[in-house]
Amino acid sequence: MFEPIEQLKKQVEEALPAVQSPEQLEQFRVRFLGGSGELKKLMARLKEIPSAQKREFGKHANEAKAWVEGQFEGLKAKLGSPAAAGGQAGGAGPAGAIDVTEPGAAPRLGRAHIITQTIDELIEVFGRMGFDVATGPEVEDEWHNFVALNIPPEHPARDPLDNFYIDMPAGPAAPGIVAVQSAGAPAAAAAPQMHLLRSQTSTIQVRVMEKTRPPVRVVAMGRVYRPDEHDATHYSMFHQVEGLYVSRKVSMADLKTTLLQFAHAYFGPEAEVRLRPSFFPFTEPSAELDVKINLKGQWRWMELGGCGMVDPNVFEAVGYDSEKWTGFAFGLGIERLAMRKYDIQDIRWMFENDVRFLKQF
Ligand code: FA5
Repeated sequence: MFEPIEQLKKQVEEALPAVQSPEQLEQFRVRFLGGSGELKKLMARLKEIPSAQKREFGKHANEAKAWVEGQFEGLKAKLGSPAAAGGQAGGAGPAGAIDVTEPGAAPRLGRAHIITQTIDELIEVFGRMGFDVATGPEVEDEWHNFVALNIPPEHPARDPLDNFYIDMPAGPAAPGIVAVQSAGAPAAAAAPQMHLLRSQTSTIQVRVMEKTRPPVRVVAMGRVYRPDEHDATHYSMFHQVEGLYVSRKVSMADLKTTLLQFAHAYFGPEAEVRLRPSFFPFTEPSAELDVKINLKGQWRWMELGGCGMVDPNVFEAVGYDSEKWTGFAFGLGIERLAMRKYDIQDIRWMFENDVRFLKQF
Protein backbone atom coordinates (compact mmCIF):
# COMPACT_ATOMS: atom_id res chain seq x y z
CA MET A 1 0.00 0.00 0.00
CA PHE A 2 2.87 2.38 0.81
CA GLU A 3 4.71 1.55 -2.36
CA PRO A 4 3.85 4.78 -4.24
CA ILE A 5 5.24 6.73 -1.27
CA GLU A 6 8.48 4.73 -1.28
CA GLN A 7 8.73 5.18 -5.05
CA LEU A 8 8.38 8.92 -4.74
CA LYS A 9 11.09 9.09 -2.08
CA LYS A 10 13.36 7.06 -4.33
CA GLN A 11 12.73 9.42 -7.27
CA VAL A 12 13.56 12.40 -5.08
CA GLU A 13 16.74 10.78 -3.82
CA GLU A 14 17.84 10.12 -7.38
CA ALA A 15 17.00 13.62 -8.51
CA LEU A 16 18.76 15.43 -5.65
CA PRO A 17 22.41 15.06 -6.80
CA ALA A 18 21.55 16.64 -10.15
CA VAL A 19 20.27 19.86 -8.53
CA GLN A 20 23.28 22.17 -8.82
CA SER A 21 21.85 25.53 -9.78
CA PRO A 22 18.89 27.72 -8.89
CA GLU A 23 17.37 26.88 -12.29
CA GLN A 24 17.66 23.12 -11.64
CA LEU A 25 16.19 23.67 -8.19
CA GLU A 26 13.22 25.34 -9.84
CA GLN A 27 12.77 22.31 -12.11
CA PHE A 28 12.94 20.10 -9.02
CA ARG A 29 10.27 22.19 -7.31
CA VAL A 30 7.95 22.05 -10.31
CA ARG A 31 8.44 18.29 -10.69
CA PHE A 32 7.81 17.32 -7.07
CA LEU A 33 6.12 20.23 -5.28
CA GLY A 34 4.37 22.01 -8.17
CA GLY A 35 0.61 22.23 -8.77
CA SER A 36 0.67 19.09 -10.98
CA GLY A 37 3.76 17.65 -9.33
CA GLU A 38 4.42 14.17 -7.95
CA LEU A 39 3.29 15.03 -4.42
CA LYS A 40 -0.05 16.32 -5.65
CA LYS A 41 -0.49 13.05 -7.62
CA LEU A 42 0.40 11.02 -4.53
CA MET A 43 -2.16 12.86 -2.43
CA ALA A 44 -4.77 12.34 -5.16
CA ARG A 45 -4.35 8.56 -4.74
CA LEU A 46 -5.71 8.87 -1.22
CA LYS A 47 -9.22 8.50 -2.53
CA GLU A 48 -8.38 5.08 -4.04
CA ILE A 49 -7.20 3.79 -0.64
CA PRO A 50 -9.74 1.73 1.37
CA SER A 51 -11.18 3.79 4.22
CA ALA A 52 -9.63 1.62 6.93
CA GLN A 53 -6.14 2.40 5.65
CA LYS A 54 -6.68 6.02 4.63
CA ARG A 55 -5.38 7.39 7.91
CA GLU A 56 -2.18 5.43 7.84
CA PHE A 57 -1.55 6.27 4.18
CA GLY A 58 -2.22 9.98 4.78
CA LYS A 59 0.24 10.04 7.69
CA HIS A 60 3.02 8.50 5.60
CA ALA A 61 2.26 10.70 2.61
CA ASN A 62 2.44 13.82 4.78
CA GLU A 63 5.76 12.72 6.23
CA ALA A 64 7.07 12.21 2.71
CA LYS A 65 5.81 15.65 1.70
CA ALA A 66 7.52 17.31 4.69
CA TRP A 67 10.73 15.48 3.82
CA VAL A 68 10.64 16.64 0.17
CA GLU A 69 9.91 20.23 1.27
CA GLY A 70 12.80 20.05 3.73
CA GLN A 71 15.14 18.91 0.94
CA PHE A 72 13.93 21.77 -1.24
CA GLU A 73 14.40 24.41 1.49
CA GLY A 74 17.90 23.09 2.26
CA LEU A 75 18.91 23.40 -1.38
CA LYS A 76 17.32 26.82 -1.68
CA ALA A 77 19.40 28.10 1.22
CA LYS A 78 22.50 26.75 -0.49
CA LEU A 79 21.84 27.73 -4.09
CA GLY A 80 19.55 30.75 -3.81
CA SER A 81 16.23 31.12 -5.53
CA PRO A 82 16.08 31.39 -9.33
CA ALA A 83 14.55 34.89 -9.13
CA ALA A 84 17.42 36.23 -6.99
CA ALA A 85 20.02 34.67 -9.25
CA GLY A 86 18.46 36.22 -12.36
CA GLY A 87 18.70 39.73 -10.92
CA GLN A 88 22.43 39.59 -10.29
CA ALA A 89 24.87 40.87 -12.84
CA GLY A 90 27.17 38.16 -14.05
CA GLY A 91 24.95 35.32 -12.74
CA ALA A 92 27.33 33.64 -10.33
CA GLY A 93 26.51 29.90 -10.14
CA PRO A 94 26.75 27.66 -7.09
CA ALA A 95 30.38 26.98 -7.60
CA GLY A 96 31.06 30.69 -8.04
CA ALA A 97 31.29 30.35 -11.82
CA ILE A 98 30.45 33.53 -13.68
CA ASP A 99 28.54 33.35 -16.91
CA VAL A 100 30.10 36.23 -18.77
CA THR A 101 27.61 35.92 -21.62
CA GLU A 102 24.68 36.92 -19.37
CA PRO A 103 23.50 40.51 -19.85
CA GLY A 104 24.34 42.65 -16.81
CA ALA A 105 21.69 44.30 -14.70
CA ALA A 106 21.09 47.82 -16.01
CA PRO A 107 22.43 50.36 -13.48
CA ARG A 108 19.85 52.76 -12.07
CA LEU A 109 20.91 56.21 -13.21
CA GLY A 110 20.20 59.34 -11.24
CA ARG A 111 19.71 62.69 -12.92
CA ALA A 112 20.36 66.34 -12.23
CA HIS A 113 17.64 68.18 -10.28
CA ILE A 114 15.37 70.40 -12.40
CA ILE A 115 16.96 73.52 -10.84
CA THR A 116 20.48 72.28 -11.65
CA GLN A 117 19.37 71.50 -15.20
CA THR A 118 17.90 75.01 -15.53
CA ILE A 119 21.07 76.63 -14.17
CA ASP A 120 23.16 74.62 -16.65
CA GLU A 121 20.90 75.75 -19.47
CA LEU A 122 21.10 79.40 -18.34
CA ILE A 123 24.89 79.23 -18.23
CA GLU A 124 24.86 77.85 -21.75
CA VAL A 125 22.36 80.38 -23.15
CA PHE A 126 24.05 83.40 -21.56
CA GLY A 127 27.45 81.96 -22.44
CA ARG A 128 26.46 82.04 -26.12
CA MET A 129 25.52 85.71 -25.61
CA GLY A 130 29.01 86.49 -24.31
CA PHE A 131 28.36 86.47 -20.54
CA ASP A 132 30.91 85.01 -18.12
CA VAL A 133 29.78 83.30 -14.92
CA ALA A 134 30.45 84.83 -11.49
CA THR A 135 29.73 83.53 -8.00
CA GLY A 136 29.44 84.98 -4.51
CA PRO A 137 28.87 83.83 -0.92
CA GLU A 138 25.43 82.99 0.46
CA VAL A 139 26.30 84.53 3.83
CA GLU A 140 26.68 88.20 3.09
CA ASP A 141 27.44 91.42 4.92
CA GLU A 142 25.30 94.54 4.89
CA TRP A 143 27.65 96.29 2.55
CA HIS A 144 27.17 93.88 -0.34
CA ASN A 145 23.51 93.08 0.30
CA PHE A 146 22.33 96.65 0.92
CA VAL A 147 24.67 99.60 1.28
CA ALA A 148 26.61 99.33 -1.96
CA LEU A 149 23.30 98.63 -3.72
CA ASN A 150 22.02 102.03 -2.66
CA ILE A 151 19.57 100.57 -0.13
CA PRO A 152 19.48 103.12 2.69
CA PRO A 153 19.17 102.16 6.38
CA GLU A 154 15.51 103.07 6.62
CA HIS A 155 14.56 101.02 3.56
CA PRO A 156 11.98 98.31 4.34
CA ALA A 157 14.09 95.77 2.42
CA ARG A 158 16.50 95.80 5.41
CA ASP A 159 13.85 95.00 7.99
CA PRO A 160 14.79 92.06 10.23
CA LEU A 161 11.34 90.63 9.50
CA ASP A 162 12.20 90.45 5.79
CA ASN A 163 15.66 88.96 6.12
CA PHE A 164 17.51 86.09 7.74
CA TYR A 165 20.07 87.99 9.83
CA ILE A 166 22.71 85.75 11.30
CA ASP A 167 23.86 85.68 14.84
CA MET A 168 27.59 85.82 14.20
CA PRO A 169 30.30 88.27 15.21
CA ALA A 170 29.82 91.56 13.38
CA GLY A 171 32.32 92.09 10.58
CA PRO A 172 34.70 94.98 10.12
CA ALA A 173 33.07 98.33 9.50
CA ALA A 174 32.54 99.45 5.93
CA PRO A 175 31.76 102.98 4.75
CA GLY A 176 28.15 104.00 5.16
CA ILE A 177 27.12 101.03 7.34
CA VAL A 178 24.58 101.75 10.01
CA ALA A 179 23.44 99.08 12.41
CA VAL A 180 20.16 97.55 11.28
CA GLN A 181 18.62 97.91 14.73
CA SER A 182 18.80 101.65 14.39
CA ALA A 183 16.99 101.71 11.06
CA GLY A 184 15.37 105.07 10.49
CA ALA A 185 17.79 106.82 12.78
CA PRO A 186 21.23 106.64 11.16
CA ALA A 187 23.85 106.06 13.81
CA ALA A 188 27.59 106.29 13.45
CA ALA A 189 28.76 106.22 9.86
CA ALA A 190 30.85 103.14 10.49
CA ALA A 191 28.93 100.78 12.75
CA PRO A 192 29.99 97.11 12.72
CA GLN A 193 28.39 95.12 9.92
CA MET A 194 25.65 92.58 10.46
CA HIS A 195 25.58 89.39 8.40
CA LEU A 196 22.63 87.74 6.72
CA LEU A 197 21.74 85.05 4.20
CA ARG A 198 21.76 87.02 0.97
CA SER A 199 18.28 88.08 -0.09
CA GLN A 200 19.19 88.63 -3.75
CA THR A 201 21.98 87.79 -6.16
CA SER A 202 22.51 91.51 -6.82
CA THR A 203 25.19 91.17 -4.12
CA ILE A 204 27.34 89.50 -6.77
CA GLN A 205 27.14 92.60 -9.00
CA VAL A 206 28.92 94.50 -6.25
CA ARG A 207 31.53 91.80 -5.68
CA VAL A 208 32.32 91.53 -9.38
CA MET A 209 32.66 95.31 -9.87
CA GLU A 210 34.85 95.61 -6.76
CA LYS A 211 37.30 93.15 -8.32
CA THR A 212 37.05 93.90 -12.05
CA ARG A 213 37.63 96.97 -14.17
CA PRO A 214 34.96 97.63 -16.80
CA PRO A 215 33.80 96.53 -19.29
CA VAL A 216 31.99 93.74 -17.45
CA ARG A 217 29.53 91.18 -18.78
CA VAL A 218 28.59 88.49 -16.24
CA VAL A 219 25.72 86.35 -15.05
CA ALA A 220 25.56 84.86 -11.56
CA MET A 221 23.23 82.14 -10.31
CA GLY A 222 22.62 80.99 -6.80
CA ARG A 223 20.40 80.52 -3.78
CA VAL A 224 18.80 83.44 -2.03
CA TYR A 225 16.79 83.51 1.18
CA ARG A 226 13.74 85.45 2.34
CA PRO A 227 11.30 84.70 5.13
CA ASP A 228 8.40 84.60 2.65
CA GLU A 229 5.48 82.33 3.38
CA HIS A 230 5.42 79.21 1.26
CA ASP A 231 2.73 79.05 -1.39
CA ALA A 232 2.46 77.94 -5.01
CA THR A 233 4.86 80.65 -6.24
CA HIS A 234 6.91 81.58 -3.15
CA TYR A 235 9.52 79.73 -1.14
CA SER A 236 11.86 80.93 1.59
CA MET A 237 14.89 79.62 -0.30
CA PHE A 238 14.92 80.05 -4.05
CA HIS A 239 17.36 80.77 -6.86
CA GLN A 240 18.01 83.83 -8.93
CA VAL A 241 20.01 84.55 -12.05
CA GLU A 242 21.62 87.97 -12.05
CA GLY A 243 22.96 89.69 -15.14
CA LEU A 244 25.28 92.70 -15.27
CA TYR A 245 26.64 94.51 -18.32
CA VAL A 246 28.84 97.56 -17.88
CA SER A 247 30.42 99.39 -20.77
CA ARG A 248 30.27 102.79 -22.46
CA LYS A 249 26.93 104.08 -23.72
CA VAL A 250 24.87 101.12 -22.61
CA SER A 251 21.17 101.89 -23.06
CA MET A 252 17.77 100.58 -22.10
CA ALA A 253 17.50 99.34 -25.71
CA ASP A 254 20.52 97.08 -25.07
CA LEU A 255 18.82 95.73 -21.97
CA LYS A 256 15.58 94.97 -23.77
CA THR A 257 17.38 93.40 -26.73
CA THR A 258 19.41 91.17 -24.41
CA LEU A 259 16.32 90.06 -22.53
CA LEU A 260 14.46 89.39 -25.78
CA GLN A 261 17.35 87.31 -27.10
CA PHE A 262 17.42 85.40 -23.85
CA ALA A 263 13.64 84.80 -23.97
CA HIS A 264 13.91 83.48 -27.54
CA ALA A 265 16.79 81.19 -26.63
CA TYR A 266 15.15 79.87 -23.45
CA PHE A 267 11.42 79.82 -24.29
CA GLY A 268 11.51 79.68 -28.09
CA PRO A 269 11.45 82.16 -30.97
CA GLU A 270 7.80 83.13 -30.46
CA ALA A 271 8.31 84.52 -26.93
CA GLU A 272 7.83 88.27 -26.47
CA VAL A 273 9.13 90.51 -23.68
CA ARG A 274 7.64 93.60 -22.06
CA LEU A 275 9.17 96.04 -19.55
CA ARG A 276 6.84 97.65 -17.00
CA PRO A 277 8.06 100.69 -15.01
CA SER A 278 9.06 99.75 -11.48
CA PHE A 279 11.47 100.71 -8.73
CA PHE A 280 14.68 99.17 -7.38
CA PRO A 281 17.16 101.27 -5.36
CA PHE A 282 20.10 99.99 -7.42
CA THR A 283 18.72 100.73 -10.90
CA GLU A 284 17.39 103.92 -12.47
CA PRO A 285 15.19 103.66 -14.43
CA SER A 286 13.89 100.29 -13.22
CA ALA A 287 11.42 97.86 -14.75
CA GLU A 288 9.69 94.54 -14.20
CA LEU A 289 10.28 92.02 -16.94
CA ASP A 290 7.28 90.13 -18.32
CA VAL A 291 7.50 87.46 -20.96
CA LYS A 292 4.66 86.28 -23.18
CA ILE A 293 4.78 82.57 -23.77
CA ASN A 294 2.49 79.90 -25.10
CA LEU A 295 1.25 77.57 -22.37
CA LYS A 296 -0.88 74.71 -23.69
CA GLY A 297 -2.03 76.76 -26.67
CA GLN A 298 -2.76 79.89 -24.60
CA TRP A 299 -0.62 83.02 -24.80
CA ARG A 300 0.00 84.55 -21.39
CA TRP A 301 2.15 87.34 -19.94
CA MET A 302 4.21 86.20 -16.96
CA GLU A 303 6.40 88.22 -14.60
CA LEU A 304 9.94 86.91 -14.40
CA GLY A 305 11.99 89.47 -12.47
CA GLY A 306 13.38 92.97 -12.22
CA CYS A 307 15.86 94.95 -14.28
CA GLY A 308 17.09 98.44 -15.07
CA MET A 309 20.06 100.71 -15.70
CA VAL A 310 22.70 100.55 -12.96
CA ASP A 311 22.26 103.50 -10.60
CA PRO A 312 25.27 105.90 -10.56
CA ASN A 313 25.40 105.53 -6.76
CA VAL A 314 26.20 101.82 -7.19
CA PHE A 315 29.05 102.69 -9.58
CA GLU A 316 30.41 105.20 -7.07
CA ALA A 317 30.20 102.61 -4.23
CA VAL A 318 32.41 100.18 -6.15
CA GLY A 319 34.83 102.83 -7.39
CA TYR A 320 33.62 103.15 -11.01
CA ASP A 321 33.42 106.60 -12.56
CA SER A 322 29.68 107.03 -13.11
CA GLU A 323 30.31 109.78 -15.68
CA LYS A 324 32.24 107.36 -17.81
CA TRP A 325 30.48 104.03 -17.37
CA THR A 326 26.93 102.92 -17.97
CA GLY A 327 25.33 99.53 -17.50
CA PHE A 328 22.26 97.43 -17.11
CA ALA A 329 21.38 94.69 -14.62
CA PHE A 330 18.60 92.16 -14.24
CA GLY A 331 17.59 89.55 -11.66
CA LEU A 332 15.16 86.72 -12.50
CA GLY A 333 13.71 83.92 -10.38
CA ILE A 334 15.09 80.59 -11.61
CA GLU A 335 12.19 78.55 -10.21
CA ARG A 336 9.78 80.89 -11.98
CA LEU A 337 11.67 80.41 -15.26
CA ALA A 338 11.47 76.63 -14.97
CA MET A 339 7.83 76.79 -13.85
CA ARG A 340 6.90 78.79 -16.95
CA LYS A 341 8.86 76.62 -19.32
CA TYR A 342 7.66 73.26 -18.01
CA ASP A 343 4.23 74.40 -16.78
CA ILE A 344 4.94 73.43 -13.17
CA GLN A 345 2.01 74.56 -11.06
CA ASP A 346 3.61 74.67 -7.61
CA ILE A 347 7.12 75.79 -6.60
CA ARG A 348 6.97 73.52 -3.52
CA TRP A 349 7.11 70.40 -5.72
CA MET A 350 10.66 71.39 -6.63
CA PHE A 351 11.82 70.98 -3.05
CA GLU A 352 9.78 68.00 -1.84
CA ASN A 353 12.05 65.65 -3.80
CA ASP A 354 9.29 63.25 -4.74
CA VAL A 355 11.00 60.99 -7.28
CA ARG A 356 7.80 60.77 -9.36
CA PHE A 357 8.06 64.55 -9.92
CA LEU A 358 11.85 64.69 -10.36
CA LYS A 359 11.86 61.83 -12.88
CA GLN A 360 9.83 63.90 -15.34
CA PHE A 361 12.77 66.22 -16.12
C1 FA5 B 1 15.15 91.39 -6.93
O1 FA5 B 1 15.48 90.50 -6.19
C2 FA5 B 1 16.14 92.26 -7.60
N1 FA5 B 1 17.44 92.02 -7.05
C3 FA5 B 1 16.11 92.02 -9.10
C4 FA5 B 1 16.91 93.01 -9.88
C5 FA5 B 1 18.21 92.73 -10.22
C6 FA5 B 1 16.33 94.23 -10.25
C7 FA5 B 1 18.97 93.66 -10.94
C8 FA5 B 1 17.07 95.16 -10.97
C9 FA5 B 1 18.37 94.86 -11.30
P1 FA5 B 1 12.60 90.83 -6.75
O2 FA5 B 1 12.51 90.91 -5.29
O3 FA5 B 1 11.42 91.34 -7.51
O4 FA5 B 1 13.86 91.61 -7.31
O5 FA5 B 1 12.87 89.31 -7.14
C10 FA5 B 1 13.17 88.96 -8.47
C11 FA5 B 1 12.44 87.67 -8.86
O6 FA5 B 1 12.74 86.64 -7.91
C12 FA5 B 1 10.91 87.77 -8.80
O7 FA5 B 1 10.39 88.37 -9.96
C13 FA5 B 1 10.55 86.31 -8.73
O8 FA5 B 1 10.68 85.70 -10.01
C14 FA5 B 1 11.63 85.75 -7.84
N2 FA5 B 1 11.18 85.65 -6.44
C15 FA5 B 1 11.04 86.65 -5.53
N3 FA5 B 1 10.62 86.18 -4.34
C16 FA5 B 1 10.47 84.84 -4.50
C17 FA5 B 1 10.08 83.76 -3.63
N4 FA5 B 1 9.78 83.93 -2.35
N5 FA5 B 1 10.05 82.50 -4.13
C18 FA5 B 1 10.39 82.27 -5.43
N6 FA5 B 1 10.78 83.23 -6.30
C19 FA5 B 1 10.83 84.51 -5.85
